[in-house]
Amino acid sequence: MEQDREQLASRLDIGKELLYLTQQDVISAGLTEADILRLTRDALIAHGRKAYDMPAKIGVFPSEEVFCHAMPAYVASSLALGLKWIGCNPDNPTKYGRPQTTGLMLLNDILSACPIAIMDCAWITATRTPAVTVLAAAALHPDAETFGMFGCGVQGTGHVNFAEHALKKLKTIHVFDVKEENMDRLIAEVQPKIKAKIVKGRSFEQVTKECQVLSSATLIVKRPHSFVKSEWVGKGQTILPCDLNTFWDPAIPRQADKYIVDSIEEHELFDRVGYFPGGLPRIACETGQVLAGLEPGRESPEQLIVCSNIGMSVVDVVVAREILNRALVRNIGSKLRL
Ligand SMILES: NC(=O)c1ccc[n+]([C@@H]2O[C@H](COP(=O)([O-])OP(=O)(O)OC[C@H]3O[C@@H](n4cnc5c(N)ncnc54)[C@H](O)[C@@H]3O)[C@@H](O)[C@H]2O)c1
Repeated sequence: MEQDREQLASRLDIGKELLYLTQQDVISAGLTEADILRLTRDALIAHGRKAYDMPAKIGVFPSEEVFCHAMPAYVASSLALGLKWIGCNPDNPTKYGRPQTTGLMLLNDILSACPIAIMDCAWITATRTPAVTVLAAAALHPDAETFGMFGCGVQGTGHVNFAEHALKKLKTIHVFDVKEENMDRLIAEVQPKIKAKIVKGRSFEQVTKECQVLSSATLIVKRPHSFVKSEWVGKGQTILPCDLNTFWDPAIPRQADKYIVDSIEEHELFDRVGYFPGGLPRIACETGQVLAGLEPGRESPEQLIVCSNIGMSVVDVVVAREILNRALVRNIGSKLRL
């Protein structure tokens, strides 16, 4: 800790200034997929071992489906302390030509608590979310050869890009989106970077039935749309929603042998504010506990497992802290006086 603090203090006048990083600055810090996976794994394991401080996100709701969440966290093992302030409006792309998810990260010095950085959080969210999904997928279904992705936007594209970094036997990735052009864009962007063959899906049913591991990143709303019906899902599959309770028939987590979540507290909070109208399914354990080896994941090839990861700020602050370190070393960003 001493050494890290000295390095930070040698590059930043702590308490008098902070580093501001635009989205491009964040990307220019140069974290690779392997870096994001390593940092995300560290954060999930710290979470699984309860070596963190992270109250469930609090939110304000300017309208029924629009929210801003405050997501603070401290992960001692990564010297990471901060807050993500993130907004989400499912209608942003159509109504305002803006991404669904936007926001800022604020980092603080762990000794003085002074703010040390503000950075755009879109790229961090767009990379750490798929990293959580594919790390969980690798723990629960390591030999998967087929992966299905519903939603080909920011998160879907990230998921397909990350998938084979963790699922080493992957041969085929099926993608499906209600917008044909989003599937085409994803394939054009990601296929040149990965070996697994990306195939355009024909329907919710066809993709669901053909894939061993499936994920969804579409939209989060309070009334479940149940685009995937429970009768299409079978034993031996692993389903990893990023969009809480919107996309999959709520009967699916109930028929699953295990319903695992990244944070029980977060899921209970979403339940309290109305995102599980039929009630929260029984939770087996948390994703980080599986990654830390503290809870069993898949216990037989026949099990149907649903693993819902709604997003945790322990991961955001750990990734953001590494970005700050690299940005300071590379002289990226703008120093702002406090
Ligand atoms: N779990 C997390 O940590 C986390 C983090 C960030 C975002 N999210 C959530 O992930 C979701 C996607 O975010 P994004 O930034 O990729 O949004 P995006 O707008 O970039 O992409 C969403 C995509 O889903 C498609 N879509 C919408 N309805 C669909 C349906 N019924 N079937 C198939 N495709 C459909 C859209 O056409 C679009 O291509 C949002 O709900 C967001 O809140 C979760």
